[in-house]
Amino acid sequence: MHPDTVAVSAGRPKGPGEPLNHPLVLASNFRGEEGAYSRTHGTTTWHALEEAVGALEGGRAVACSSGMAAAATTLFALAPRVLVVPTYSYLGVRALVADLEQQARIEVRPVDIADTDAVIAATPGADVVWVESPTNPTLDVADVPAICAAAKQQGARVVVDSTFATPICATPLADGATVVMHSGTKFIGGHSDLLIGLAVTDDDDVYERLLHARLVNGSTPGALEAFLALRGLRTLPLRMERMSANAAELARRLDTHPAVAEVRYPGTGAMVSFVLTGGAPAADAACARVELIVQATSLGGVETTMERRQKYAGDAHVPPGLVRMSVGIEHVDDIWADLVAALAP
Ligand SMILES: Cc1ncc(COP(=O)(O)O)c(C=O)c1O
Repeated sequence: MHPDTVAVSAGRPKGPGEPLNHPLVLASNFRGEEGAYSRTHGTTTWHALEEAVGALEGGRAVACSSGMAAAATTLFALAPRVLVVPTYSYLGVRALVADLEQQARIEVRPVDIADTDAVIAATPGADVVWVESPTNPTLDVADVPAICAAAKQQGARVVVDSTFATPICATPLADGATVVMHSGTKFIGGHSDLLIGLAVTDDDDVYERLLHARLVNGSTPGALEAFLALRGLRTLPLRMERMSANAAELARRLDTHPAVAEVRYPGTGAMVSFVLTGGAPAADAACARVELIVQATSLGGVETTMERRQKYAGDAHVPPGLVRMSVGIEHVDDIWADLVAALAP
C-alpha cells in the first residue's frame, strides 16, 4: 500500500466491536504473574504508534521520550567504538557525541556528510556511520544508498536521522541503513505540542538491543505523547504534500528576492534555509518583524516558524545571516506576504 494509506490504517485495533483507535492507556502496572510493567512491556498506546511508524519505515519501531532519547538509545544499543559523524548537523546530537568522546567512550570521525567520498574514506574501521539528511540547519543532503553500500563492505552500520525527511520523503532502511531515527516532536507529531522520538530497524538483533537500551535507560515515551503522535501521523502524508509544495514555491520566490544571498532547499520536504545579504542584523530584524510566521526554535508543526541559527553556540559555524524556516500548511501567498513585509528595507 501507499504511505498515505499506511499512515491512516496501520496501528489500529482489528477485532469486531473494538474502537477504531487504541484507547489512551495511562497504566504503568498490570495485573498478573508475568509482572507486566509499562517500561518493560510497553503499552498498547505505544505499540500502536510503533506499529504505524514501523510500517511506514519498513521495520520495527521503538518509541522514546524525545528525539534526543531516540539518538541516545540508538548509540547505547549499537555501542560503537568508532563513529563517523557529520561535522555539521543537529547541535543536540553533536553535543551528545562530543560528551561521549570527552568521556573517552568513543572515537569520533567528523566528515562533511554531503561529500560521499569523504564519508566512504572515513568508514574503514568504524562501527557506525551516523548520517543526518537533510541536515539541520544547512539542509545538506547525504547519498544514503552509496554510504550504506560502502559501510556494508566495511562491516559498519549506518544510522540515519531522518527527522527533516520524514518517512514520506525518504525510507533509509530500504537504502540499506540499519536504524532510522526521528524526532517525532517535529513532523510526525506535527502540532508543536509534544516531545517524542522513534528509532526503527529491520534487524531483529538490533531491535532487541534498542528495546533493552530503552528499558535500562528508562527513555520511555509518555502515554499522551504517544497517543497524540499517532494522531498526528495519520495526516503526515497530507501535511507533507502541502508543506513541500509551499516550501518549493517559497524557495523559488526567495531565490530572486533582493535581500536574499542564498537559498538552500533540498528539493523535497518542508525545510528551507536562506541567507540574507544583510547578515545577522537583517536576519534578526526579519525574525522579529514576522507576524503570521512564528519566530520559534522548534519546527515541523502546521504553522510556519523561522529562526536565525548562528546565534546558538552549537551552530556558530553557519552563516550569520542564515534563517531556517519550517514551512507550514497556511496558504503560500499569506506566508510570502508576511516574509516580503519582514524583509523590506
Ligand atoms: C535533526 C534533529 N534530530 C534530533 C532532534 C532532537 O529531537 P528532540 O528535540 O525531540 O529531542 C532534533 C531537534 O531539533 C533535530 O532537529
